[in-house]
Amino acid sequence: MSAPAPLSIYVHWPYCARICPYCDFNVYRPRGADADALIAAILADAQAHRDRLGARAAATVFLGGGTPSLLTPAQIARLLSGLDAVFPRSDDAEVTLEANPDDAAQFAGYGDAGVTRLSVGVQSLRDEALAALGRTHDAAAARAAVEAAAAAGLRTSIDLIYARPDQTAAAWAAELREALALPAEHLSLYQLTIEAGTAFERAVRRGRISPPPSEAAAALYDLTQEICEAAGAPAYEVSNHARGAAAQSRHNRAYWEGAEWLGLGPGAHGRVALAGVRTATVAARAPRDYAAAVAAQGVGWVETESLSPEDEADERLMMGVRLVEGVALAPLEQLRGCAFDAALIARLEGEGLVTMADGRLRVTRAGRLVTDGVARALCLAG
Ligand SMILES: C[S@@+](CC[C@H](N)C(=O)[O-])C[C@H]1O[C@@H](n2cnc3c(N)ncnc32)[C@H](O)[C@@H]1O
Ligand code: SF4
Repeated sequence: MSAPAPLSIYVHWPYCARICPYCDFNVYRPRGADADALIAAILADAQAHRDRLGARAAATVFLGGGTPSLLTPAQIARLLSGLDAVFPRSDDAEVTLEANPDDAAQFAGYGDAGVTRLSVGVQSLRDEALAALGRTHDAAAARAAVEAAAAAGLRTSIDLIYARPDQTAAAWAAELREALALPAEHLSLYQLTIEAGTAFERAVRRGRISPPPSEAAAALYDLTQEICEAAGAPAYEVSNHARGAAAQSRHNRAYWEGAEWLGLGPGAHGRVALAGVRTATVAARAPRDYAAAVAAQGVGWVETESLSPEDEADERLMMGVRLVEGVALAPLEQLRGCAFDAALIARLEGEGLVTMADGRLRVTRAGRLVTDGVARALCLAG
C-alpha cells in the first residue's frame, strides 16, 4: 500500500502589535498573553490531529496571522521542531512565515529555525499610505525588510494593498514598478476590501474615505496585470504573482488544488479526511477558548462539518478557478454526480468571462475580479 499523501499545516498566530483599521482577521493585542502556553496548546492540537489522522508527512507549513513574527526565532524553532516531531516535514518542505517589516532583525534567525520562505507585509511603499493604513512601519523599513529577507537566503514574497482611497492609476503604477524592483520572487497584490465591522467600514459610512468605484478598481487590476507581466511576474492566481513556477506558494496551491490541510491555532480552518470523509474543521476563535478546547478534548476544533461529495465539488470549483491555469471539470462532475450547466458555461464564455478548453474551465483576465461570482453561479445552476 502506498503511503498517504503528505499534508499541509496552517498555524494561526492571533496576536498583532496594533490592529490595522482595514483588517477583519482573527486578531488580538497581546496584552501580556503567554506565547509559550499558546505554542504548547498548538503542539498538543497537532498531536491530537495525529491521533485521529495517523502518521503523515508535512509538505508545507504556513505560520500565518496575525503577526507570527512577534515570536522570537527560538520560539519559532520550538514550534517547528514540535510540529516536525508529530508530522515530519518532507525533505523539500516549504515553511512560510508571515512577517511584519518591524521584525526584520529576526529574519536570519527564522531561517536558522527552519523557515524557508518569508511573506513580508509591505502593504505600500508610500509613507502617507502606510500611515493611512495604520501600519507601524514606514516605506524605508519595508524596503530594508525585503532586502533582509533576501540577504538571509529566504524565498521572499511581499504583500501590497492597492485600490486605496484616492490612489491614482499613475501613482499605483509607479509604486508597483518600485515593488517589482525589490528582491522578491513572489507578490500578493490585494485590492483594498472594506470589511464589515472594521474602522475603515465606519470611515466609509461617514464619508471620510472612499475607495475607488468598481470600474476604476477593474482598470487598476488590468494595469497591475500588464505591469507584472512585463516585469516577468505574471499572475498564477487572482491576486498572486510569481517569477516562474518554482516561486509560486506551494502552501496556497494546496488550498486552491483541494489538498488536505490541518488548521492549528485560534480560529484556524482545516480540511481533513476523517474516516475517509472530507471534513471542514474550525478551531475556537478566542485564544483562551482555543486553549480550553485543546485542554478539554485534545483537538482545538469546535466545529466540524462532513462535506457531501456535492459540497466538496463546489468547494473545489470555487478554489480551483482562482488559478490562472483553471480547473479540470470532469473529476468535479464525477464527485457531484452530474455535469455543470453547459448553457451557462457557453453564456459566460460569450460574455468573455471564462474559456473552456481541454476539459478545463479558466476564468479570463476580464473575469478574474468576479471569479467568486462566476464559480457561485456554476455551483447554484445545479
Ligand atoms: C492577515 S494579514 C497577515 C500578515 C501580517 N500581519 C501583515 O499585516 O503584514 C495577510 C494579508 O492580508 C492582506 N489584507 C488584510 N486585510 C485586507 C483588506 N481589508 N483588504 C486587502 N488586503 C487585506 C494584507 O495585505 C496582509 O498582508
Ligand atoms: S493586517 Fe496584519 S498586522 Fe494588521 S491587524 Fe491584520 S493581521 Fe494584524
